Amino acid sequence: MARIIAGIATSHVPAIGAAVDHGKTREPYWKPLFEGVEPARRWFREARPDVCIIVYNDHASAFSFKSIPTFALGTAPEFPPADEGYGPRPVPVVRGHDELAWHLAESIILDEFDLTLVNEMPVDHGLTVPLSVAFGQPDAWPCRVIPLCVNVIQYPPPTGNRCFNLGKAIRRAVESYPEDLKVAVFGTGGMSHQLQGERAGLINSEFDRAFMDRLVSAPGELTGTPHVEYMREAGSEGIELVMWLAMRGALAGTINEVYRFYHVPVSNTAYGLMVLEDGGSRG
Ligand code: DHB
Ligand code: FE
Repeated sequence: MARIIAGIATSHVPAIGAAVDHGKTREPYWKPLFEGVEPARRWFREARPDVCIIVYNDHASAFSFKSIPTFALGTAPEFPPADEGYGPRPVPVVRGHDELAWHLAESIILDEFDLTLVNEMPVDHGLTVPLSVAFGQPDAWPCRVIPLCVNVIQYPPPTGNRCFNLGKAIRRAVESYPEDLKVAVFGTGGMSHQLQGERAGLINSEFDRAFMDRLVSAPGELTGTPHVEYMREAGSEGIELVMWLAMRGALAGTINEVYRFYHVPVSNTAYGLMVLEDGGSRG
């Protein structure tokens, strides 16, 4: 049986990808960040998940504003890095796991989450930066990846509660897949940041730290947070944090928080990283 071994939360700031790609990770600005990321990389080297389901958002790269799916599952055998204006990132092609992805599609849709299925999709920094955080700069990504794309760029995005329940549906789907696979679920984006308007540059560390605490011990308290509160407290792009709730919903039992790191600023953003090992079947 496939099983979820952990949830990983990480911001996806594009400048992190650029720092990796251009060999800047030891420069004074970046050193503290990449030192802080290293324990998570060590965890990945030891835990070696077979498949990572990455809950992320596309930034008008694969989907223009012509069509905006609320939840889109990548069912392709592979996903090329997107050209976001400077050419595609020099990172390996992302290899999917189409067999598990189609199983997820069947299980989750019959569980009444109406996913859009995507058979061809470039993946932007929302997905490739979390891979760089987890694995550095390998010749090939060491695991298969199933992209699960959430709309957080065009109002109205799904609620945190909907994302949390989607996470639970992901768990049911994974646990009904017969092959022995170790699966990690990523929740990406955040933390507090606002990229435009009068409050551009907003960072709210108090909100971010409380969010991390409650994500571990009281996620049910976070699921009712309305969009306007994310906007007010964490800035307009802080809404990306609803994707962390999808990851948390996929975990069960007593969560073992094996690593947490918070660093300000990275670009315009508060950077957060968590590794939460799964506690076993839901009680
Ligand atoms: C930045 C952060 C994001 O989440 C993003 O999608 C783009 C840019 C930033 O802080 O620069
Ligand atoms: Fe973003």
